[in-house]
Amino acid sequence: MRYKNATSLLARARQCIPNGVYGHFRSYAMTSTTSFGIPAEYPHFLDRAYGCRFVDTDGNEYIDYMCGYGPAIVGYGNERVDAAVVQEITRGISYSFPTPHYLELAETLVSRLACADWVVFALNGSDAIQLALVTARAHTGRSRVVATNGAYHGNQPWCSKGLGRVEADRSETTFIDCGDLDQLDEALRHEGVAAFVVCPYEQLVGLPNRMPDTDYWSEVRRICDQYGTLLLVDDVRSGFRLHQAGSCAYFNINADLVCYGKAMANGYPLACATGRAALMAAAERIFVSGTFWGFAPSFAAAEVTLAILSEADNMGHLATMGRQLTDGLTAAASANGFRLSISGPPALPIVLFEDDKEYAVARAFAQAMAHRGSFIHPTHNWFIGLAHTAEDIDLTIEHAQGALAKMIRRGI
Ligand SMILES: Cc1ncc(COP(=O)(O)O)c(C=O)c1O
Repeated sequence: MRYKNATSLLARARQCIPNGVYGHFRSYAMTSTTSFGIPAEYPHFLDRAYGCRFVDTDGNEYIDYMCGYGPAIVGYGNERVDAAVVQEITRGISYSFPTPHYLELAETLVSRLACADWVVFALNGSDAIQLALVTARAHTGRSRVVATNGAYHGNQPWCSKGLGRVEADRSETTFIDCGDLDQLDEALRHEGVAAFVVCPYEQLVGLPNRMPDTDYWSEVRRICDQYGTLLLVDDVRSGFRLHQAGSCAYFNINADLVCYGKAMANGYPLACATGRAALMAAAERIFVSGTFWGFAPSFAAAEVTLAILSEADNMGHLATMGRQLTDGLTAAASANGFRLSISGPPALPIVLFEDDKEYAVARAFAQAMAHRGSFIHPTHNWFIGLAHTAEDIDLTIEHAQGALAKMIRRGI
């Protein structure tokens, strides 16, 4: 694999875009690496994508296990989704009013999703969560929020740390350990808390992902009820990959507000906050607006995406492909003397190496996998999509065998 074009595009990008690229992938462009950094030799610019594959600007083709960080759930360039979008585009794109698709999608979501009596749309998960939080504050008349350490809920100041973010941004937020019911009780007991914001399971970057204990969610509900705090579930990442009615249906969570994004429109920008009927009045009183929030093609894309997800045993396919992948990787690793730590649901596995403190082994593996034609992330969870087939997974396991054998030869 060669990355000649990627290297020069990245150099150009750095002249006019801070770091050249955003998010996790920016660390390559930074002079100092971060522990979550990606490998040095890696694709950076994409030329085209189809099914579960993409081709980078150097013509290298990969089986993609990131699916655009989740969205491409039914596959890149899915004909049915794209046909609906093209039809919509011929009528227009962004207007002063929503189209009937907006309403039809809202009806579909309300009838399908767990805990949802109403829905408000936005274009990304961060905004959807912010809308849900504002609704919780409007309903309770309280301002404080409790969230869990290390969880990512998007780019909004109330949950973000780092350079340029100030303490005041998070002055209304208390962070507790995910899964710790005593800490939750303590945090809600002493402060009037509007909402406990939490993901359906602990899905941290660079760490094993933990599933909730059996009685965790019923206890969370009990504690929230005791102190009049609303339960706001962030299903932006895992939504539509575990259960077509959302992860609350999968884990039997009785939430007040639930947010979705990423996979709901197969890559067309769309997210939403959903809520219980009792919160409808508050949701009607808050100000909701975004210039592009009526982007008609996304509603058309979401309707078809959700229809596809509800067909046959498509949820089962995601889990089956995920299990085939992680079983194969485990076998390849042990045959080559590596010990993997695999966690998370099969459709969103996180694959780490044991005793790999600086993620050096994970990075070397991701790079060697990219060279062979499978694209994975060294520290973030991966995403399985409906376009992955058993043959794709077999090929990736072959890539893993070659990658791990080469790492041994190089003494990694
Ligand atoms: C759990 C979770 N919540 C919220 C977000 C923010 O979504 P968006 O990037 O669409 O703003 C993300 C994005 O990665 C996420 O993983």
